[in-house]
Amino acid sequence: MSIRLSNGKEIPIEMHKVRIVQKTQLPPARERLRAMDEAGYNTFLLRTRDVFLDMLTDSGTNAMSDNQLAAMMVADDAYAGSESFYKLESAVTDIFGMQHVLPTHQGRAAEHLLAKVFVKQGDVVPMNYHFTTTRAHFEMAGGTVLEIFTDEALNTQSTCPFKGNLDLNKFQKVIDQYGASRISFVRMEATTNLLGGQPFSLGNFRQVSEMAHKNGILLVIDGSLISENAYFIKQREAGYENKSIAEIILEIMSLADICYLSGRKSCSARGGFISTANKAHYDAIRPWLPLYEGFTTYGGMSTKEVEAMAVGVREMVETEVAGASADQVKYFVDRLRENGVPVVTPAGGLACHVDAKLFLPHIPSLEYPAGALSAAIYICSGIRSMERGTVSMDRDKDGNELASDLELARLAVPRRVYTMSHMEYAADRLAWLLKHRDMVKGLKFVEEPPVLRFFFGRMVPLENWSAKLAEKFEKDFGPAA
Ligand code: F0G
Repeated sequence: MSIRLSNGKEIPIEMHKVRIVQKTQLPPARERLRAMDEAGYNTFLLRTRDVFLDMLTDSGTNAMSDNQLAAMMVADDAYAGSESFYKLESAVTDIFGMQHVLPTHQGRAAEHLLAKVFVKQGDVVPMNYHFTTTRAHFEMAGGTVLEIFTDEALNTQSTCPFKGNLDLNKFQKVIDQYGASRISFVRMEATTNLLGGQPFSLGNFRQVSEMAHKNGILLVIDGSLISENAYFIKQREAGYENKSIAEIILEIMSLADICYLSGRKSCSARGGFISTANKAHYDAIRPWLPLYEGFTTYGGMSTKEVEAMAVGVREMVETEVAGASADQVKYFVDRLRENGVPVVTPAGGLACHVDAKLFLPHIPSLEYPAGALSAAIYICSGIRSMERGTVSMDRDKDGNELASDLELARLAVPRRVYTMSHMEYAADRLAWLLKHRDMVKGLKFVEEPPVLRFFFGRMVPLENWSAKLAEKFEKDFGPAA
């Protein structure tokens, strides 16, 4: 929720009290340089003891509510028939209007099962944008991912409220070119994570649904950030301002055949699930669940997390929960823009995304500007962000590098974890870095894994830029900062 102060300024206001805290520490720049060297210029390989603000992701890092924690205490640890599962099933039926629920240990496991059942060798899977694990699973099953976003999607400096929309003309062309039988399904991600947490509109989603169904194509929704997408529809789409988040989510789900999600984001619990109102789809997927995940009433999740997710699904439709991250992201984005830092606009769900192509225009894609920016942010602030650019793209089948459409350093804002002063600090250090951006150079791989290389790849800085940057930072702020 946002609140207007008497001077007219809008600020995000926390509709919760902080009752449990966890200490964090801010190691000085010299220590951060050492930690970054040890981590191979890959923020995934940092230890949290070396991190001040952990903005790597909002996945599994949200603050849980008192009711979620309380629910964990009554978890029913049974291999089969656990009562905890039935609470989740009932929550998903109420909130999503889909009564068949298959729990999975997290979102990518749901993608694996969908790929197993629906993606055949030679298929295509059109979507508004891929997520890393999505593409890897669908391609491993023999499919090809087709990104059919609108032209506005890649414009990072935009005012378009729905950059996550699917381009319907391109969708028609895909149907004409491949025929419905080669299309596994069309996938809509709510919100498009790698485009900067950008939502689709309900108007667009309805049209996608009509086109898909007219042609006998399934519509699958990735609902990992569904409450944020619904929050943006409420704020930005005419006709929805007086609808509740719950009503908007129900309307979205009524247009889709299958929903899957990572429960680690909007639901603030660690797990995932697939849901559908269609018994035939449920029956097609169910046999594989015990093989890959676990019995149908826990699906690889701890029953404690099943309980927490059942509560999380119900809580995420509360406006202040749906907007907990989005409002802080907006504040953070506004502060950065005031300081001239190029960020993806409009502000999206989950994170603030800094455009590394604009921040570091002197670094070519194959020297990984977003990776370099992410490393530089850590060195001058202790903030861990995530590279979402060319490092996050794997090479193609012939071993060629694929330059990413966008080069983003993502600073995630986990729900209900950080405060305004954290945002002020982050904005200040990024503004300092912008003034010294010429000092930042590219990176080079020294260890490059073949799949999802961003997780374990190790790099080194070109021209030893990081040591010079740390030295300049120390000169400006002193050895303790
Ligand atoms: N789909 C979307 C849109 C996601 O953002 C994620 C994960 C997944 C699927 C996979 O789910 O992690 O539970 O297996 N996103 C995390 C992130 C990892 O940092 O953005 P998972």
